[in-house]
Amino acid sequence: MDDLVILNIGELITLSSEFLDKRGINPCTTGESSQGINSLATGENVSSLPPQDSSIGMTGKKQGKVRAGKEMRELGIIKGASIGIKDGKISYIGEPRKAKKEIDAKGKVVMPGFVDPHTHLVFAGSRVDEFELRILGKSYKEIAESGGGIANTVKNTRNASEEELFQQAMRKLDYALLQGTTTIEIKSGYGLSSKDEIKMLRVIESLNKKHPISVVPTFLGAHSVLPETNKEKYIEKLLGMMGEASKFAKFCDVFCEQGVFTKEESRKILECGLNFGLRPKIHADELTSSGGSELAGEIGAISAEHLVYPSNKGIELMKKAGVVAVLLPGACLFLAHKSPVKKFMDAGVPIAIGSDFNPGSSPVLSMPIIIGLACILLGFTPAEAITATTINAAYALGIEDKVGSLEIGKDADILILNINSHKEIPYWFGFNPVEKVIKKGEVI
Ligand code: NIG
Ligand code: FE
Repeated sequence: MDDLVILNIGELITLSSEFLDKRGINPCTTGESSQGINSLATGENVSSLPPQDSSIGMTGKKQGKVRAGKEMRELGIIKGASIGIKDGKISYIGEPRKAKKEIDAKGKVVMPGFVDPHTHLVFAGSRVDEFELRILGKSYKEIAESGGGIANTVKNTRNASEEELFQQAMRKLDYALLQGTTTIEIKSGYGLSSKDEIKMLRVIESLNKKHPISVVPTFLGAHSVLPETNKEKYIEKLLGMMGEASKFAKFCDVFCEQGVFTKEESRKILECGLNFGLRPKIHADELTSSGGSELAGEIGAISAEHLVYPSNKGIELMKKAGVVAVLLPGACLFLAHKSPVKKFMDAGVPIAIGSDFNPGSSPVLSMPIIIGLACILLGFTPAEAITATTINAAYALGIEDKVGSLEIGKDADILILNINSHKEIPYWFGFNPVEKVIKKGEVI
């Protein structure tokens, strides 16, 4: 018997590659065709009939396919179906079966938990005074050049104990969970010394162990160069930190930006990371066109992130190398700039969306708000923004086979939303539609 079944789901957003790939061909193992299943696929064309077979999606195809361009509008929506959960995994989608516990989701939206693929969530203090300075006309860059910005947060973070950082981050994760985040990436980068970077990575490791949200760690020792530091020497130190960092982190990230790390310096750092098994990510072309998107393509990074000023060549190289564009609408709002979304869509580069939660450029942690900003500010459709914050975000973290879509065998990371249509997520801007969060089969 299953542990849990969610019944009568108004709109079940599967993001299942089975439904999207087959375009209306019955994906059941029985081989029998049924009208319900035949009309399941292709996003907006939803089925109003529950599937006839009790388990869809068992053809054994590789799950969790990343999506680009128009495919990002296809959510694989089913109306009136049920979803079963057993041992923390999704056991079936279709006609309801008996389970130990039932939840009625009549008229509601059920979807995969949000995957936030880019945050700087571990830090001490805030930068609320700089926020006011920016309102009064100072730019992010000017504040950074006068000793504020990242250096300000580095000072606070170095002064905080590991326990303080951990407790503060736990509270932030509690909030993220209430807003539907079930997986989150967290970068180091406010330590900028061997001791303090490792302290941050240890905190990130403890968060993953202690909090229900799954945490994916990234080493961002190359986040900045402090004014008192010699850059060449710091790069040598960074290369020296890589071995220890690789015991904790899955990815290595670099802030490739004018006045921070050049394209060639970034390449050197990321190649060293690769030698230690850390896949590259890049803070690319955020404030100026700095070669980051090109480097991402050349080096085969898993993702290039921010991407406000990417070159056409960079976009082309990203497409060729299969690099995901991680766009960050919160930072776009706070820094008053916009990523060229259409260029990435037209080029067929898959797009993920993250919060970039940090105390300087994006103090926004709620994924429903981020989806609102993606639609209102950057022109995503609601469906595209949902794809970008679930399956494509999982792909940007290399975990698309486990999370990001509702498919048999994947983790039961599921949200029940108190709305009738997924389009209401961005529409009721600022409202949290998340009624229940299920993490690995547990109702939180
Ligand atoms: O993603 N670009 C660099 N890093 C962060 C900002 C961090 C900060 O200002 O503290 C970002 O925008
Ligand atoms: Fe960032």
